[in-house]
Amino acid sequence: MCGIVGYVGRRDAVPLLVDGLKRLEYRGYDSAGIAVMEKGRLEIRKCVGRLSALEEKLARQPVAGAPGIGHTRWATHGEPSEINSHPHTDSTGRIAVVHNGIIENFESLRHDLEKKGHPFRSETDTEVVPHLIEQELKDGARDLPEAIRRALAKARGAYALGIVSLDDPDTIYAARLGSPLIVGVGDDGQFIASDVPAILNQTRKVIYLDDGELAILKAGGVRVMKLDGTEVKPDIREVKLQAEAAERAGFETFMRKEIHEQPRVLRSLLDKHTKDAAAVALQDVGFDDAQWKAVRRIMIISCGTAYYAGSYGRLIIEALTGLPVEIELGSEFRYRDAKLSPDMLVVSVSQSGETADTLASIRKARRAGCKALAICNTPGSSLARESDVVFHTEAGPEIGVASTKAYTAQLMAFALLAIHLGRLRGELTAEQERELVRDLHAVPDAIHYVLARGEEIRAIAQKHGDGPSALYLGRKFNYPTALEGALKNKEISYQHAEGYAAGEMKHGPIALINEYLPVVCLCTKTRDEVYEKMISNMKEVEARHGRIIAVASNGDESVLKLAEDIIFVPQVRDEFSPMVNVVALQLLAYFAAQARGTDIDKPRNLAKSVTVE
Ligand code: G6P
Repeated sequence: MCGIVGYVGRRDAVPLLVDGLKRLEYRGYDSAGIAVMEKGRLEIRKCVGRLSALEEKLARQPVAGAPGIGHTRWATHGEPSEINSHPHTDSTGRIAVVHNGIIENFESLRHDLEKKGHPFRSETDTEVVPHLIEQELKDGARDLPEAIRRALAKARGAYALGIVSLDDPDTIYAARLGSPLIVGVGDDGQFIASDVPAILNQTRKVIYLDDGELAILKAGGVRVMKLDGTEVKPDIREVKLQAEAAERAGFETFMRKEIHEQPRVLRSLLDKHTKDAAAVALQDVGFDDAQWKAVRRIMIISCGTAYYAGSYGRLIIEALTGLPVEIELGSEFRYRDAKLSPDMLVVSVSQSGETADTLASIRKARRAGCKALAICNTPGSSLARESDVVFHTEAGPEIGVASTKAYTAQLMAFALLAIHLGRLRGELTAEQERELVRDLHAVPDAIHYVLARGEEIRAIAQKHGDGPSALYLGRKFNYPTALEGALKNKEISYQHAEGYAAGEMKHGPIALINEYLPVVCLCTKTRDEVYEKMISNMKEVEARHGRIIAVASNGDESVLKLAEDIIFVPQVRDEFSPMVNVVALQLLAYFAAQARGTDIDKPRNLAKSVTVE
């Protein structure tokens, strides 16, 4: 979604803004712009399309100076156009604003402002903000901070804002409510950004602004206050991430790099949370044994890929702990009349920790007295801060829009949690725990093996990836894998794909099967009857001349007769096979997308972090 960067200090802001915005490109955007204070003038450059278009414009119409604010816009109110892109200004052109989020009451605010003579140029909700500030100054606000505070008191909705004005030409104002915003404290200037990677190469000292806070940044320092004017002591934290973690490291895309990082990410989670490769010992998760034991029911809430991780979470927790588990989409749960009780643990799953629907759901559950655990990849995010306890997935920055390493890290987190809970609840013996942990340790190497088969998977993707549609089938632990594999495919290759529980095939999708339809079947060996059932489903597909691509266990001869193409993977314990199998599907989607020539890291219309409803 939209990205914000700002800089105030002795350096020229323009290259810093462009560089910072580039580092936020992964969030998804359709236009970009900057506002820069140049020798007593407020200069604005914006344009539709990629940042390279903005750079070309800046080469034709150069600008230099500081402070400056920049924005990449992902259209919500009004089409992608130069007029609708940020920064937006007041009627005098003295105040410029960049905004993430949605001002929900913008229509009535705009109506009132128009009656007072404010001319509006864009269709955006954002444009009301500079006009509101201008109006507050006219209506007697003593200074800009007061005008901003009074203006924001009138705005409903969510915002992260960066504001500059000719009235205070050496200052950036930054405010947040419901949309992430950080302040970077540097040696030769201060930054604002909607996300840490934007400024990681400039400073690692950050202030995570809280909702309802206003930061005032000058070259020499930062003040933070609440919207009622009371001062807040800024809590400056050191970000541990290295800037290189957010770079491509020689891979052609971030997504490819992130797919390849999975063995390392899972290995380090395992090393952190297991003892002598024999028992789970959760580190820094925050609940003591009594708190875990008090849990009677679990509700998992998430969106997108994280929802499929949650679906796996339900299966593994049910299997190892005997606890009842429900799973909900954030966008549905927040409007449901679900029965919630304080003995319920609500588990949110999120890479960004900023997904609006997931956040709103957790707030709702906490209001009802539930305890909240976040499985989250972004320390300092809203979700991490608003939950009682956090399992940090520590996959490092995930830049590719389509989630990969964050997903497998979420699966690993659920596996570890399920073993821990199962043991505490007496559902698992020490011996069973030892076996489970031993089998979990086999997963990173199995993923390595799949990654090494990249060229075979590429050939399969090239053969099947150009049709209009594909079907993905799986059962039990690999039903979520089928859903996630189909999602990966549509996200990045734009081939229509459906994931289905294989047992449901007869209730509809079977009508689609013909000699053209690729059907991806997850049929790695299992200890129970699920494997046999998958083989039966594959026979049904074969009988209708569907083109089977099987993900099968190494050496499984019976699949050879049924499938047109096979991706062989090492056999790991059934419960953990989704972490291995999904990697084959990530690569399948990846190479299909590459063959189709799509923009893999930034697929059309998608955003990395969906911070609005
Ligand atoms: C967007 C992203 C997905 C992600 C989903 C949930 O749709 O493109 O990759 O799975 O949001 O995001 P979260 O940050 O909560 O995991």
